[in-house]
Amino acid sequence: MDTPKVVLGVSGGIAAYKACELLRRLTESGHDVRVVPTASALHFVGAATWSALSGHPVSTEVWDDVHEVPHVRIGQHADLVVVAPATADMLAKAAHGLADDLLTNTLLTARCPVVFAPAMHTEMWEHPATQENVATLRRRGAVVIEPAVGRLTGVDTGKGRLPDPGEIFEVCRRVLARGVREPDLAGRHVVISAGGTREPLDPVRFLGNRSSGKQGYALARTAAARGARVTLIAANTGLPDPAGVDVVQVGTAVQLREAVLKAAADADTVVMAAAVADFRPETYAAGKIKKKDGKEPDPIVLVRNPDILAELSADRARADQVVVGFAAETDDVLANGRTKLRRKGCDLLVVNEVGERRTFGSEENEAVVLGADGSETPVPHGPKEALAEIVWDLVTQRLS
Ligand code: CTP
Repeated sequence: MDTPKVVLGVSGGIAAYKACELLRRLTESGHDVRVVPTASALHFVGAATWSALSGHPVSTEVWDDVHEVPHVRIGQHADLVVVAPATADMLAKAAHGLADDLLTNTLLTARCPVVFAPAMHTEMWEHPATQENVATLRRRGAVVIEPAVGRLTGVDTGKGRLPDPGEIFEVCRRVLARGVREPDLAGRHVVISAGGTREPLDPVRFLGNRSSGKQGYALARTAAARGARVTLIAANTGLPDPAGVDVVQVGTAVQLREAVLKAAADADTVVMAAAVADFRPETYAAGKIKKKDGKEPDPIVLVRNPDILAELSADRARADQVVVGFAAETDDVLANGRTKLRRKGCDLLVVNEVGERRTFGSEENEAVVLGADGSETPVPHGPKEALAEIVWDLVTQRLS
């Protein structure tokens, strides 16, 4: 593709300032971005900022540069339109096809995928009028990202925050690369664990592992894009919450087990992508363990942690629940994977080879997905999201 053309629509909410970060990410990753703010958006961030950051003139009205017919051309030439933040008013106008400024005209003339990232107060988001407008837009094929939960304007907290700009960027990137996915996980609840557990020795030390959590987050993002309600149990990842995903933070294997089992109670699928410590220190020192001069260190005694994947597979909350595990192996990758699949009792096991420079922390992965039914699906080297999509393809086959 030539340089992808993106229209960044900005409507009038305080989160407009976060759209500057989204704009930077889009331009720095090679997109040609035309910013179309509403007149109200300019109360929050001025035209000079949008123009300087995008390298294009900025207008809110259809009356500027009329000879170029901007109210038609901008939408017609776009590969993607993303509206961030999308206010309740903007969603209502888009749902009803109103066209009283340049952005709303652009939305009517665009034939490319459209992403809305709403931001507003919780009451406005939950109002039936807004919810019906969102449902209308989604039914027509637009991607409407669920708002995040957190601090809103002023002292209020709740659902309605604009998701992290990096996460909106990821949604845009995915939609540009693959178009709008069929929401084949709509109505499904999926639970994903991600990251690596940490087992504390004392207040400053722990036994941990090198899992970054990126594969689990890719699974969460792609499941949300395919319409699922997603609960992500995150262990020590330090990554921003994926847009439209409920995130539960945990630290240890025992906490991870508790959170996963609770969320799994009404889940259609559970994917254990987290690297869970098999052992934890038998004792936790309430104060920092000190070295004693001239003495050998005390040995660390370990006890076993529960095997969450085996437990989930054996005691399924629902008979038709699909349980997926991951296995990171350094040797005899496939043979070890097959043995592990049987031992854990899950339906699918994603087996990948790890090493010093492979998989951990990287953006890419390569794997084979083994099925309890004897199937074997090789996944070539590629982005973690591509592997995630294949996992969901295999899960949806089993769900239906
Ligand atoms: N797992 C789990 N609970 C544990 C250990 C692992 O649920 N206590 C899950 C992981 O989330 C992963 C799968 O089991 O989905 C395989 O993890 P792995 O560490 O490869 O399995 P182990 O049972 O620890 O096997 P090994 O003997 O290779 O250490």
